[in-house]
Amino acid sequence: MTKRINAMNNRFFRLSIWTCTLVLMVMLQAACSTKGDDPRPDTQPPDEQPGPAILKEKAAFGMGAAIKTAHLTELAYANTVKNHFSQVTAEWEMKMELIWSSASGYNWNNADRIVDFASDNGLEVHGHTLVWYKSFPGWFKNAAYDSIAFEDHVKSYIQTTVGRYKGRVKSWDVANEIFNDNGTLRSTDCPVFATFKDPIGFYGRCFEYAHEADPEARLFYNDYSVVLASAKRSAIKRMVSRFKNEGIPIHGIGDQFHYRVTTDKSTIKNGLTDMASTGLLIHLSELDIIVNVLQSESYAFTQAEAQKQADMYRFIVESYESLPDNQKFAITTWGVTDKYTWLTDYWHAKEYPLLFDQNYQEKEAYRGFLAGLKND
Ligand code: XIL
Repeated sequence: MTKRINAMNNRFFRLSIWTCTLVLMVMLQAACSTKGDDPRPDTQPPDEQPGPAILKEKAAFGMGAAIKTAHLTELAYANTVKNHFSQVTAEWEMKMELIWSSASGYNWNNADRIVDFASDNGLEVHGHTLVWYKSFPGWFKNAAYDSIAFEDHVKSYIQTTVGRYKGRVKSWDVANEIFNDNGTLRSTDCPVFATFKDPIGFYGRCFEYAHEADPEARLFYNDYSVVLASAKRSAIKRMVSRFKNEGIPIHGIGDQFHYRVTTDKSTIKNGLTDMASTGLLIHLSELDIIVNVLQSESYAFTQAEAQKQADMYRFIVESYESLPDNQKFAITTWGVTDKYTWLTDYWHAKEYPLLFDQNYQEKEAYRGFLAGLKND
């Protein structure tokens, strides 16, 4: 009996070896013939080739990019966003004047495309921006509402917009740029300042309206030069204290970070630490670094210039990394590629402010960003 079992085991063993060998040969042949017959090159197309290291995989916080729907049909653009970033912000298309076409009319086309693109690709969305003096639509300004009608309309806008994207847009800039650098409230061209005796009280209610529409959404105050202008920063901190005392939901502060290679580093570092003393989430919300600081027509973006920019990116990321971990919300670059940057129009000079060049190749700035990240 034992002999028979041994003989069967031996036969089974030989059969298994033979079967394995056959399977291996077939697989080998298949692999060889695919290679031989396939006219495609060995490597992936450049659009899909990952860079040396992927930003979103290395960063322990959100890695954001401002995007525009017009570019999403460009494969390299869409792939760069998908490969390297974990969240997106609409650079333009989720602002009030774009969405709010009349008192009761909303145009969601492009905002929906941004949010759909993000959910299709597993990206978070940071909403920008609910109330910004520059983005009240013409029809609204012409209506010259009194404070009651003004607030009713804005409340309805906020709740309709935040409610529509509830659970899909995880955070919002509720108010943008309400202070001057000297800490006073912005009055020029600001419909809120012109309408309310206590503009900060109004902005506080905007935070409450947004919170009612999506209690899970994290709500930010956003401005520029927060780390540079200490009087502005103090005004923001006073507003935050007031909101906290009044139980108004504010979760974070954003500094846009449209800075330059020449911006003073210790001022950046100290300002960031001071922002974080609020205990709120900190967002570097619109990061780009100007290199052509003299706005010269003959400017050349040389290797030395690229390195200066990389050093600044590295310094900014290192400074951000030194903040408490639970306050690091995200760093968002204001664009994806030097091919498309708002600075081309706004700055009136040749510019190369971002992490990817015109051909979507990682720049020195990209490597500087990576080098600034903590490697634990
Ligand atoms: C800019 C966009 O980049 C442009 O495309 C648009 O024409 C105007 O707005 N601060 C902000 C951003 O908060 O919303 C601005 O974005 C840049 C300055």
